[in-house]
Amino acid sequence: MRQDHLITATQLSRDDIEAVLDRAREVADDPGAFADRHAGHVLALCFFEPSTRTRMSFDSAAKRLGMETIGMGDVDSSSVSKGESLSDTVRVIEGYADAMVLRHPSEGAATLAAEHVSVPVVNAGDGAGQHPSQTLLDLHTIRENHGLDDLTVGIMGDLKYGRTVHSLAAALTNFDVNQHFISPESLRLPRSVRFDLHETGAQLREHTDLDDVLGDLDVLYVTRIQKERFPDENEYHRVAGEYQIDAETLDDASDDLTVMHPLPRVDEIAPDVDETDHATYFEQAHNGIPVRMALLDTLMENAEADEETEADR
Ligand code: CP
Repeated sequence: MRQDHLITATQLSRDDIEAVLDRAREVADDPGAFADRHAGHVLALCFFEPSTRTRMSFDSAAKRLGMETIGMGDVDSSSVSKGESLSDTVRVIEGYADAMVLRHPSEGAATLAAEHVSVPVVNAGDGAGQHPSQTLLDLHTIRENHGLDDLTVGIMGDLKYGRTVHSLAAALTNFDVNQHFISPESLRLPRSVRFDLHETGAQLREHTDLDDVLGDLDVLYVTRIQKERFPDENEYHRVAGEYQIDAETLDDASDDLTVMHPLPRVDEIAPDVDETDHATYFEQAHNGIPVRMALLDTLMENAEADEETEADR
């Protein structure tokens, strides 16, 4: 992958994705070979929204590569609370770190940050926009379980606001994958995302009922229905129950079905699914380590190559 930043899954070609995932496999097979590879470098963890998995796995991944990490802490304890702009904040942090991971509630925040700094920026979620490093670990999980071609993938839940969905759907267009989107009408994929997917020639269909497609799926990617986005709570309760699965729901699924979820879950996957062979969401979360190590290793390598080219001029 020859990229300076990771901002959106749409920037990734099939070759880019396979290069990172091949490296993630190498990391998983022999993590010691990557230890101290980037000793002396610092990763800034800039989280303007809550996170458990993304923040902690990037922190752990960086340390396993020999990097130090620094964080902003609680947004209320940073100078953002005094009204500092995002562009000023990242320009300052650029002087303290060699790479930056940014989560922000505003769509486009990572694009803006990348325009203002010269160190690598990873978009760790920008509002309802994109979450491309999550997508890389999702793809790694799918590849390790099924490969990435000749697949049927169902993506269910809140497709309107789910940034992991927008990134995953875009990335899957690089592969021979039939995509099925299952949601209430009110939470369909945004028109702009549908348009972009159609432009790639992607094979996609939309459903309101999981039963229409469950038996055909190799992967069911479940997402949380975001209660807080509904103007009418009754409407949430009306649709949410239809998009919850339990072990009995999966009676009609293929034995090889892989159930994924970016987590955190609330009640969209019942705990009895955890006991089935379908449950893959904890493995998926753990894949954040080798995949984010591979991603950081790649971006740091690219940045070092850029510096050498600049020095040779
Ligand atoms: N999947 C994910 O992004 O989880 P966090 O919000 O805990 O980082």
